Amino acid sequence: CKQVFKISTGSANLDKLLGGGVESMSITQVFGEAGSGKTQIAHTLCVTTQIPTEDYSGGKVMFIDTERSFRPNRIRQIARRFHLSEDSVLQNILYIRAYNSEHQYQILKNVAVKFHEDTGVFKLLIVDSIIALFRNDFMGRGVLLNRQQKLAETMSLLKKISEEYNVAVFITNQVTTSMNNKFPLLTIGDDVKPVGGNILAHSSTTRVALRKLTGNVRIAKIHDSPELAEQEEAFTITNGGVQD
Ligand code: GTP
Repeated sequence: CKQVFKISTGSANLDKLLGGGVESMSITQVFGEAGSGKTQIAHTLCVTTQIPTEDYSGGKVMFIDTERSFRPNRIRQIARRFHLSEDSVLQNILYIRAYNSEHQYQILKNVAVKFHEDTGVFKLLIVDSIIALFRNDFMGRGVLLNRQQKLAETMSLLKKISEEYNVAVFITNQVTTSMNNKFPLLTIGDDVKPVGGNILAHSSTTRVALRKLTGNVRIAKIHDSPELAEQEEAFTITNGGVQD
């Protein structure tokens, strides 16, 4: 029997917002403008995933990087906050760089094989960002349908992986305004929308909108969830990663 577990984000506020943390057998999507904290949450999760709790054994992380956002030195800093061995924390993160959307899909197929072979070892799969390569590979209106089809395939593979191998899937997404979908204008306001259209929206179990407040303070808000209240919580980005 597969036991659903929740991984702490490092911030009690953010965990509360998520109903306890980032959940297994489920896809959690965060979206927000540049610098809103998407990659920092992903880095913190790389460490917290490895910390066992009363009802969670801890485990390894698979990090798929599309934008060269992974920073081993950040992982070291965050490991120190939790008094963990920096080297062993890094060793428990399997890092893969994806170069285009097709490559990303093939990597995910290989991830499924790896999770099958190493049963129960991996607890978190991160794709940072899920959309960047699709936006590179499919430019312009004429290929939008094709892009959405490939994106749908990728998302359904992610869903299958999360359920079959009982892992949490954490993906980051970018934003655009409703006024200008083709050439994203990054603004801070209510008209900011996640990109990827209906497919990316409906294939994620939980979506969290992030925005900058002042300094290192960020606001997270549940976006359009059937299960979670549309509440907001604040968190901060520190040298030790994400916290209250
Ligand atoms: P894009 O990838 O550009 O779309 O943005 P993102 O949302 O992924 O941004 P990210 O999560 O990388 O957040 C960037 C912010 O994190 C910066 O503005 C800094 O405030 C903070 N940050 C990044 N590195 C450090 C660090 O080493 N120490 C501290 N204290 N803060 C950091």
